[in-house]
Order: sequence, then structure tokens, then C-alpha cells
Amino acid sequence: MKRMIIDCDPGHDDAIALILAHSHAEVLGITTVAGNTSIDNTTANALGICELLGVGTQVYRGASKPLRRESTYAHAVHGESGLGDVELPRHSRTESTISAVEYLLENVDTDVWVVPIGPLTNIAQVIQEDPDWGSRIAGLSIMGGSTTVGNVTAVAEFNISHDPEAADIVWRSGIPIKMCGLNLTHQLIADDSIVACLREANPSNSELKTLATFAADCYDNILAAIENLRGQRQAALHDLCAVLALTHPDLFRFEDRHVAVETTGTHTSGMTVVDERFSPGKTANTEVAYEIDSDRAMSIVLGAFGAE
Ligand code: RIB
Ligand code: CA
Repeated sequence: MKRMIIDCDPGHDDAIALILAHSHAEVLGITTVAGNTSIDNTTANALGICELLGVGTQVYRGASKPLRRESTYAHAVHGESGLGDVELPRHSRTESTISAVEYLLENVDTDVWVVPIGPLTNIAQVIQEDPDWGSRIAGLSIMGGSTTVGNVTAVAEFNISHDPEAADIVWRSGIPIKMCGLNLTHQLIADDSIVACLREANPSNSELKTLATFAADCYDNILAAIENLRGQRQAALHDLCAVLALTHPDLFRFEDRHVAVETTGTHTSGMTVVDERFSPGKTANTEVAYEIDSDRAMSIVLGAFGAE
């Protein structure tokens, strides 16, 4: 099993990614960052998801705002709580006294992947603290950016757009990066048929049934938010793609590309500029995901909830 640390901003799709990661990988720890909602809420949600999973994974609080900009939460999609009106179990868990940056600095080795599925603020702060950190991890599997369209602007994806300066530091660091951008995640879509699958799941044990119901509630929530915003009940399974890229790499087609992050463009700030020329100007620094076997991927995702 791959060993990984998930850096996240739960967030409905972060929650599903955390559940999938715990069923297919060894999750060493969870670090939280402000993004979909405040750091208080993303950290509380991460603790509640660990309670829901019944796992001992520790949660380490991270950055409350981007390196230089103000936070631009995604409340329109994820609600103020980060999980809309989806409830998590009550619990008495507490976050670690160790910060996300301290944890990431001290608890990695060359066999550990770090999976950022929110803004890259924590990762950038770690790199600023220790420029050699990247040589001490296996690499980063990032949900972020895009080779095509954005979802915050025409060209900027939320995780990058929230903290472009952090993403710029990460992409210039030389750390091995796998990138699942919107061009990829938009190939893996949840709709009402998936919600029905999860609701009808009749897994052998009550824990899986509880997880399937939670996932169905999450997708019901996010489908309603997207219907309200865009008039269609379809939601990409963004964050879990960065987990599957490590646990099931045979589902993907990756290409080596040079990626740079725009931080100053009037119309392009937060864009991941992917060099697709036959003779690119610079050496590739990223494995960019272009295709996923979405049928097999969806089957794996549903299987993690006892639903087929
Ligand atoms: O653009 C998709 C990303 O933004 C996902 O990580 C989702 O959780 C939101 O944060
Ligand atoms: Ca996220």
C-alpha cells in the first residue's frame, strides 16, 4: 500500500477522497488548510471524518490564509461549514498540538507521498522552511490546475487560484509532481445515478452503510449547489483523482510536461501554464494526467462504500 499524507480543505470531495485513501492506502496523517472554508471548519471537518471512519489518523492544523492574498472561500459550492448541511458524528477528538508545517517537515521519508487536494499554502511554507524537503519525500500528487479550462476564471482552478504564489513555489521546487487538473477530473462525474447507487448500497456491515449514506448526502449537497449555480446536477469527483493517481496509476494516462504558475496576469492569475509544444522551452517538471478510465475508477470508488 502507498504511504501518504493528505493535505486538504474538506470540502465534500475532500471528504470522499479521505475515505477512499483510508480504504486503499496507508494514511499517515491529515494536514488541513483554509480553502473551501475557514481553517477552523476544514480542521473540524477532518476530525469528524476520522470519527466517521473510526480511524486513529491524526489531524494537523495548517495555514489560515494564503501566503499573500486574502482567503476566497468556496461557500457557494461547499457551504459555510465546508460540508453544506451534511452532519458529521459528534466526538471528542482534538487536533494535534503540532502544526501542519512541523508535521510535514518531520514525518516524511522517500517512501511517503504528500497528496495536496486544497490550496498549496502549507506545502509552500514547508519548502520555504526547508528547500531540501522535496528530496525527502516520494513526491506530490496534486489535485489542482488544468490543461484547459478553469473553474474560478476562464483559466484558473480553485486550489491554484486561492494561492497562486504558493503554487508557484511548489512548481518551481523541483519536487516530483503528479497533477490531476480539471481537464482530468471533469472525466469523472457524479450525478443522481451515483447518489442512488450509494443510497441503495447494502454492504455487509453497518460501518460501510454509514459511509455510503454520508457520501450520498455529500453528493446530494454538492449536486444541489451546482444545480443552483449552473443549472445542472453533475459534479466532478475532483480530489479523489489525486488519491487514485497513486493507488491505481494504471487507470491514468500521464504525460511529462513543463508547468508554470501565473501569479500576476490580469486575466490569467492562478493559471497552470502547461507547455504542450513538441519542443517545449523547458525541461518537464510534472507528470500531467490527461485521461482516466472513468468506468473502472467509478467502480473502485463505489466499491470503497460497498456500492457497485
Ligand atoms: O477545483 C476543485 C478543487 O476546489 C477541489 O479540491 C475542491 O475541494 C475545491 O477545493
Ligand atoms: Ca479540496
